Amino acid sequence: MNLGIIGAGSLGTALGERLAQRGHEIMFGGGASAQDAGARLRARVGSNAETVAFGDATILAVPFAAIGAALADAGPLHGRVLWSCVNAVKPDYTGLAIGFDNSAAEEVARRARGARVVAALPPFASAIAAGQLCYDSDLEPTVFVCGDHPSAKQLVERLVRDIGAHAVDAGPLIAARLVEPAMMLAVSIAYAGVPRDVGLRLLERTSLMPGPPSAQVPA
Ligand SMILES: NC(=O)c1ccc[n+]([C@@H]2O[C@H](COP(=O)([O-])OP(=O)(O)OC[C@H]3O[C@@H](n4cnc5c(N)ncnc54)[C@H](OP(=O)(O)O)[C@@H]3O)[C@@H](O)[C@H]2O)c1
Repeated sequence: MNLGIIGAGSLGTALGERLAQRGHEIMFGGGASAQDAGARLRARVGSNAETVAFGDATILAVPFAAIGAALADAGPLHGRVLWSCVNAVKPDYTGLAIGFDNSAAEEVARRARGARVVAALPPFASAIAAGQLCYDSDLEPTVFVCGDHPSAKQLVERLVRDIGAHAVDAGPLIAARLVEPAMMLAVSIAYAGVPRDVGLRLLERTSLMPGPPSAQVPA
C-alpha cells in the first residue's frame, strides 16, 4: 500500500526502509531530514499535506513536542488512518511529559480531527533498522495497538507484522495511557548505564484461561 511517513528521523527512516522492503510505496514528509531519507531510500518526498494525501495510511513519527506543528501542516485528515508512533517522552528522556489521565495518542487525536488514529509504539528504531527483530528465545517484541476504529487497527496491525513485530490489540485509544509508560520503562532500562537492546513481549497462555463469565455454563 501507499504509506506516508511524517518525521524522517531514527524511527521514521527505519520504518520506511523495512516497509519498503515489504513492498509498500513510501513518501516522507518534512524538511531536510525527509529529503535525506528520500534520497537514501529512493522514496518520494513531499510536504506533510502531500504525504498524507499520498498514503493509504500515514505514520506519525515526530517528537511529542512537534505533533502540533506536524499536524497543523498535514492538510485534511478526515477519515484518514493515522498511525501514531509518538510517545510523550521528555526531550531529556527522563520521563513522560504527560500521563495517568492523558496520553500522546489522545493529544494526537485531538489535533488530527476526524482522523482514524491508531496508537502503536514500535520497538526501538535501532532494532528495526538492524532488520532482525527477534530477541533471545526467537521472540518478536510486542507492539500494543490501541484505537477506536477496528478497520484502521487491523491495517496498522498488518503493518506492525510487516516490520517483524508481534501485534497485540490492547483496546481503545485510551489504553495508550497504559502502553506509553510501559514503553518508557523499556527506554529507561535500555539507556540506564550500559546501553541494552531490550524489547517488551506479552506472554499469553490461552489453554488454561477460563472463558468469559457469560460463556461459563453452570454444572
Ligand atoms: N526512536 C525510537 O526507537 C522510537 C521507538 C518508539 C517510538 N518512538 C517515537 O517516535 C517519535 C520519533 O522518534 P525518533 O527517535 O525518530 O526522533 P528523531 O530521530 O528526533 O526524529 C524526529 C523527526 O521528526 C521530524 N520533524 C520534527 N518536526 C516535524 C514537522 N513539523 N514536520 C515533519 N517532520 C518533523 C524531524 O525532522 P528535522 O530533523 O528535519 O527537524 C526528525 O526527522 C517520538 O515521538 C518517539 O517517542 C521512537
